[in-house]
Amino acid sequence: MNILLIGSGAREHAIAWKLRQSPRLDELIVAPGNAGTAAIAENLPIAANDLDAVVSAARDLRADLVIIGPEEPLALGLVDRLTAESFAVFGPTQSAAAIESSKAFSHDLVERHGIPHPTGRVFDSMNEAKEYALASASPPVIKADGLAAGKGAIVPDSAVEAMRAIDAMMAQGAFGDAGKRVVIQERLAGLEVSAHAFTDGVTVRHMPFACDYKRALDGNLGPNTGGMGVYSPPPWLDDAIATTIRTEVTEAAVKAMAADGRPYRGVLYPGLMVNENGPKVIEFNSRFGDPETQAILPRLKSDLLDIVLAVAQNQLHEVEPEWSDDACIGVVLASGGYPGEYSTGFPIRGLDTVDPGVMVFHAGTRLADDGRTVLTAGGRVLTVAATAPTLAEARRKVYDNVARISFDGMHYRRDIAGGFE
Ligand code: AMP
Ligand code: GLY
Repeated sequence: MNILLIGSGAREHAIAWKLRQSPRLDELIVAPGNAGTAAIAENLPIAANDLDAVVSAARDLRADLVIIGPEEPLALGLVDRLTAESFAVFGPTQSAAAIESSKAFSHDLVERHGIPHPTGRVFDSMNEAKEYALASASPPVIKADGLAAGKGAIVPDSAVEAMRAIDAMMAQGAFGDAGKRVVIQERLAGLEVSAHAFTDGVTVRHMPFACDYKRALDGNLGPNTGGMGVYSPPPWLDDAIATTIRTEVTEAAVKAMAADGRPYRGVLYPGLMVNENGPKVIEFNSRFGDPETQAILPRLKSDLLDIVLAVAQNQLHEVEPEWSDDACIGVVLASGGYPGEYSTGFPIRGLDTVDPGVMVFHAGTRLADDGRTVLTAGGRVLTVAATAPTLAEARRKVYDNVARISFDGMHYRRDIAGGFE
């Protein structure tokens, strides 16, 4: 089979790495890819958001399946365009991707279908938004309705900060059109967990749970990032909570989308907050998480190609994915300054010194003109991931290998999956 995979992060490298293990795979093209995907597939230098270019690439390659990694092309309707030309596609349609691309839509969905969520409201009027926020018992979370590259949720510590966030979004256009409408939500305390599931709109196959680290610095300090590390499974999540999440959130959302006339196909990834009142969904994502994928796919024992194809063909009931009991930890190595300004173009040393079985998933990397040297080319540069029978062992293994890799300015968190020993 010939597969076209859209995206360029460590998530897509992990997907490509797993697909490579399939005996059914012939050609794998990653658009645009990175230096990691170039080593196991062919890169095609087109932008993920250039729908015309992607559709024409699918035609040229006679792709048997197109897999879409990031949320933007989903929100732009790439799946609809490809489906109209009879390609098999892994990912939700534009109308189903609204579960992530419009927080107003997803808020309305969970309210109407009784899916556990924080209290909140949608606002188009800035004055009403401010009144509501001021009347809240404690400062609420302010969220831009549309996609904002993971930066659209502000968690203020005071009423003044909350007013500033509403001003920034609704008056100053901090997120463009994405912030003209906001969702204001009760702020929940607790532990966060990412639930992922494959679904063809009817059958749901859950993946193991994972937890990511959004802050840049150890101890959850510093600014928010795209994600600095991940572990799976979370030892603190008991079976009862796991079952509640799977049935009352993930499966309920798949049913709700079907009932709403927006059948959902692809990966559904609810992000949840868990506390003594049980789990509540704080966001839905319409795709694999990054860095969650880098700790989930190494635990998949089955053929990923069989699963994604079954999803694309509405045959997921025929596939029962098997997962390893091993733990997996991913540590993100980032450029100096990230998530603020940073420089790129530095050679990455030590990539050939990692232990066999330890995975180095590339994100912001590219090959130098010599065709061999790997250079930094983005904020998040690599995810190093290791599996082991326990989290403690996986932790020793991953950090032992991280220490062998270096580039100018490199920084990473030293506390990923710490505190469970
Ligand atoms: P989101 O873009 O909705 O994923 O939000 C980004 C981050 O903001 C989440 O990962 C949480 O850490 C935090 N957050 C979002 N909603 C809430 C909430 N209702 N209560 C507390 N923290 C939240
Ligand atoms: N791990 C956060 C995300 O992928 O949205």
